[in-house]
Amino acid sequence: MRTRPLKVALLGCGVVGSEVARIMTTHAEDLAARVGAPVELAGVAVRRPSKVREGIDPSLITTDATALVKRGDIDVVVEVIGGIEPARSLITTAFEHGASVVSANKALLAQDGAALHAAAEEHGRDLYYEAAVAGAIPLIRPLRESLAGDKINRVMGIVNGTTNFILDKMDTTGAGYQEALDEATALGYAEADPTADVEGFDAAAKAAILAGIAFHSRVRLDDVYREGMTEVTAADFASAKQMGCTIKLLAICERAADGESVTARVHPAMIPLSHPLASVRGAYNAVFVEADAAGQLMFYGPGAGGSPTASAVLGDLVAVCRNKLAESTGPGESAYAQLPVSPMGDVVTRYHISLDVADKPGVLAQVATVFAEHGVSIDTVRQQGKDGEASLVVVTHRASDASLSGTVEALRNLDTVRGVASIMRVEGE
Ligand code: HSE
Repeated sequence: MRTRPLKVALLGCGVVGSEVARIMTTHAEDLAARVGAPVELAGVAVRRPSKVREGIDPSLITTDATALVKRGDIDVVVEVIGGIEPARSLITTAFEHGASVVSANKALLAQDGAALHAAAEEHGRDLYYEAAVAGAIPLIRPLRESLAGDKINRVMGIVNGTTNFILDKMDTTGAGYQEALDEATALGYAEADPTADVEGFDAAAKAAILAGIAFHSRVRLDDVYREGMTEVTAADFASAKQMGCTIKLLAICERAADGESVTARVHPAMIPLSHPLASVRGAYNAVFVEADAAGQLMFYGPGAGGSPTASAVLGDLVAVCRNKLAESTGPGESAYAQLPVSPMGDVVTRYHISLDVADKPGVLAQVATVFAEHGVSIDTVRQQGKDGEASLVVVTHRASDASLSGTVEALRNLDTVRGVASIMRVEGE
């Protein structure tokens, strides 16, 4: 084994960073044996230097992250500060000054992944980011390496634990959204400002990263269609149950049937209880992958939290350190297929539409005509009437999102349709 250590700079020492530092210390001997050289924590950049950080030599702490990545003796920079800046500049500077980078930064990778990969390649460095998607779950490496010989057609996953906790609560207790969110906040699953999670921004960033890798194409955050889950109601869950379904916030990345384009989207959807994703409970994550040769695969586990995320960071750190010793680099960006990302209107799926209508002769025929005029085929209709009004639930066969939107707009214009109570996509059948 080489005795000269590989030097690691840690940018950020919060929930994830402190766990990375702890495991680097407690598992130092094993990490050295696995890498083939000692792996030494050489500096830790933080915002608040006065905070007591157990197990970290105070002399390693600095507030000058730029100086740390410019030192010239750093082999690997671990970036766990998140956000776009200063993370982007620090990573680029690290490449320029000889370091490879391990990052957990989904927002940055989803927005600027192509430029960062190009910078890594230009300087002959590694850029690894297993921790950016679904915490501890090995996903990036399996998609990028294990499945590199296959053709992936669909990646569909629960990639946000907070929202899965909330939806699972609503499903199992009959609670409304706000009540379930309050419980998630009280238990520490949801942040004080839960917008990034409940509006689907976090999942959309992960979808962009997964789609890019799965389809060997560039997919940016802006390419991902996004709907949050704040409008999901207890009534939606009751409807889902009647159909033998539950509701999940899904990130869905698909290759079009003709193979010429891809789509990426995040929205709540009904899935049958028999689908493996339906049994993903609490704050767990899972990603269901469909590939030509492999068939169906599911990756499951804890998608957030200090230790699980640190596990993914450490796995990348070992890989990058091994590459450093071998004076090589791992696989970089693979975007050769250059498949364009189609708009949401091109997505084809099934829909569950709940309408409040007048309960009188001809209404059902009127509604059915609107669906027919837009080329949307009805699979089932369920009606429940009371006092001259009725609730009409229509489940469609597969139709394009554009056709469905046209249908709904026309339905809203019917005098006999009092309101469109909910529209939910039905996936996983
Ligand atoms: N807030 C995310 C979640 C974890 O709830 O899954 C970090 O991406």
